[in-house]
Amino acid sequence: MSKQVTKAVIPAAGFGTRMLPFTKAVPKELIPLVDTPVLQYVVEEAVASGANEILVVISEGKDAVKNHFSPAEDLEKRLHDSGKELLLESMQKINTLADIRYVYQSELNGLGGAVALAGEFVGNDPFFVLLGDTVMDSADALPVSGQLAVLYEKYGDPVVALAEVPLEKVSSYGIASGSEIAQGVWLLDDLVEKPDVASAPSRMAVSARYLLTPDIFPELGRIKPGKNNEMQLTDAIRELLQKRRFYGCQVKGKRYDLGSVSGFIAANVEFAMRRPELQEVLGRQILDILKEKNIL
Ligand code: G1P
Repeated sequence: MSKQVTKAVIPAAGFGTRMLPFTKAVPKELIPLVDTPVLQYVVEEAVASGANEILVVISEGKDAVKNHFSPAEDLEKRLHDSGKELLLESMQKINTLADIRYVYQSELNGLGGAVALAGEFVGNDPFFVLLGDTVMDSADALPVSGQLAVLYEKYGDPVVALAEVPLEKVSSYGIASGSEIAQGVWLLDDLVEKPDVASAPSRMAVSARYLLTPDIFPELGRIKPGKNNEMQLTDAIRELLQKRRFYGCQVKGKRYDLGSVSGFIAANVEFAMRRPELQEVLGRQILDILKEKNIL
């Protein structure tokens, strides 16, 4: 098996109920972060981490996802005719980011069910899994999936991204336990999906990125519905880590979950404030609101 990771799977089939009514007609993965759909950031991270073949798992009614990554001839002609060459270039870039393919998840039975559909695409290769509604912003560090790839190159074993969360939040995540064998590198001995505070083995949470090996597929085929009656990727990993070494990487980067209202608003304010053309006007508006509400 090659140690170069060139494939990525992006689960993007879920309903996005936390963002209704917006997600009634628009896939949650197309929620904008300023002016760019969250899924584009995710695809760009995969590409920047070495992936050139990407499988996006979608569901019925999510064809807008496909459209976003396909050429738009009329639009491109219009941009060309009106001399908007820079915009035209950035539109064309989206169509050529990677070889993107799609598979439909007919039964929305969880993250494990989504990843299980990627067996044929993955073949005998290692692959990234990037959750399609979550942006990992690594600022100046390597992209988060790239950080996992560095560990894979070193150890040749699968890796999950980890981030420490407050104790009261453990029940929202897959929680890992293990020993820290080097700074930020954990050799895992267990992984529990959304434990309650009392039974959480640690505060180290799985953070939207995975680097997996094809031996996850037989485990995915064996698991039964778990937490919330869904097929949990966590449960398949839990089985696998009894049989082989499995690492956790405490990643450098900030996680933005665009699938929740608070995450969506916070991420948009933060990313907008990085844009010089938006900074001043938005900053002034926020200040005014805070003063008006006597918060400042
Ligand atoms: C999923 C995983 C969970 C992980 C979380 C954030 O949960 O099942 O283990 O910690 O993503 O990456 P979800 O947020 O989809 O319920």
